[in-house]
Amino acid sequence: MPIKTIITGLQPSGDLHIGNYVGALQQILEFQSKFDCFLFVADLHAMTVPYEAKVLRQRVRDVVRMFLAVGVNPEKCLIFVQSQVPQHAELAWILGTQLPIAELERMTQYKEKSDQKKAVSVGLFNYPVLMAADILLYQVDAVPVGQDQVQHVELSRTLARKFNNQFGNTFKLPEVLLKKEGARILGTDGKSKMSKSLGNTIGLLDSPEDVRKKVRKAVVHPPRPESFEGKRPITIFEWHDQQFASASTRTLSQQCHVENRNCEAYKELVAKNISGLLAPIQKKYQDIVNRGDDWLLRYLNASAEVARARAERTMEMVRARAGLR
Ligand code: ADP
Ligand code: TRP
Repeated sequence: MPIKTIITGLQPSGDLHIGNYVGALQQILEFQSKFDCFLFVADLHAMTVPYEAKVLRQRVRDVVRMFLAVGVNPEKCLIFVQSQVPQHAELAWILGTQLPIAELERMTQYKEKSDQKKAVSVGLFNYPVLMAADILLYQVDAVPVGQDQVQHVELSRTLARKFNNQFGNTFKLPEVLLKKEGARILGTDGKSKMSKSLGNTIGLLDSPEDVRKKVRKAVVHPPRPESFEGKRPITIFEWHDQQFASASTRTLSQQCHVENRNCEAYKELVAKNISGLLAPIQKKYQDIVNRGDDWLLRYLNASAEVARARAERTMEMVRARAGLR
């Protein structure tokens, strides 16, 4: 069966950076050219670790604006906020009643995230069940995920099968669409992956001056970057050279990387190119900000209405079959 519709969610966990752009946003742009998609901000998932209400509210809006700024096409991808569709939480409850605790205890990401934490919330434990609900509500064909999320999509298949067997055929079983292994971007510190929690990012909204400062400080030849998610990450310089493969770039890059000279000029060029790449995104972002919060909220209310209608179609079957109506 050909894949027609997909769903993907992104947690609003902070200011998006070049790593997120390469590892997540660019892939969404690629998918929207092939499939119809549901794209949502997973704010309920973001609550599974300690957070501040004010910050969460702001970040959800920032992520939606960034989706639009990088070029997600709302005609192809329905962009909505998870918590505005209460059916997600409702279905998660129902699915959870059908799942033995042991199945969640096996989840690799749960084990990693809860490791060495004093207090682990029930929400964090239930995270995969909510994710299964996200997926199953929309009867999608496939879910594009990185390797770390495959186990969660498989759990959604398990839950769909269980429910279908117990109560009658209700859910489509979603396929795993393994995202092509994109580059993993190393932080400017040259030590670990670019990540907002590590303060080693180049943000998609950084000004040219900030980009310049960060690039100038960035390590060109890190000793031996530790691999993450099983892959050797590349520095922003290696990533830059792949993106901007002109003859003059190549010469300067060679001089800096191989002969260790002209690194200042090379870094200036890298900073200029990165800012050039970010400029149209930032302009569009600013245009969207200028439309005001009211515009964004109206937009999100309208898309949530569409999502709720889709989700409700599934929930009517679920409630009826599970004996709730
Ligand atoms: P962060 O590590 O900054 O908290 P997340 O874990 O929220 O980022 O990741 C969101 C998405 O961005 C995921 O799809 C992830 O694979 C991608 N991503 C995050 N950091 C990088 C990076 N340094 N290189 C490539 N992709 C990344
Ligand atoms: N758990 C996913 C992540 O951290 C985010 C997510 C939540 C998701 N619900 C989803 C992804 C449903 C795909 C489909 O990356």
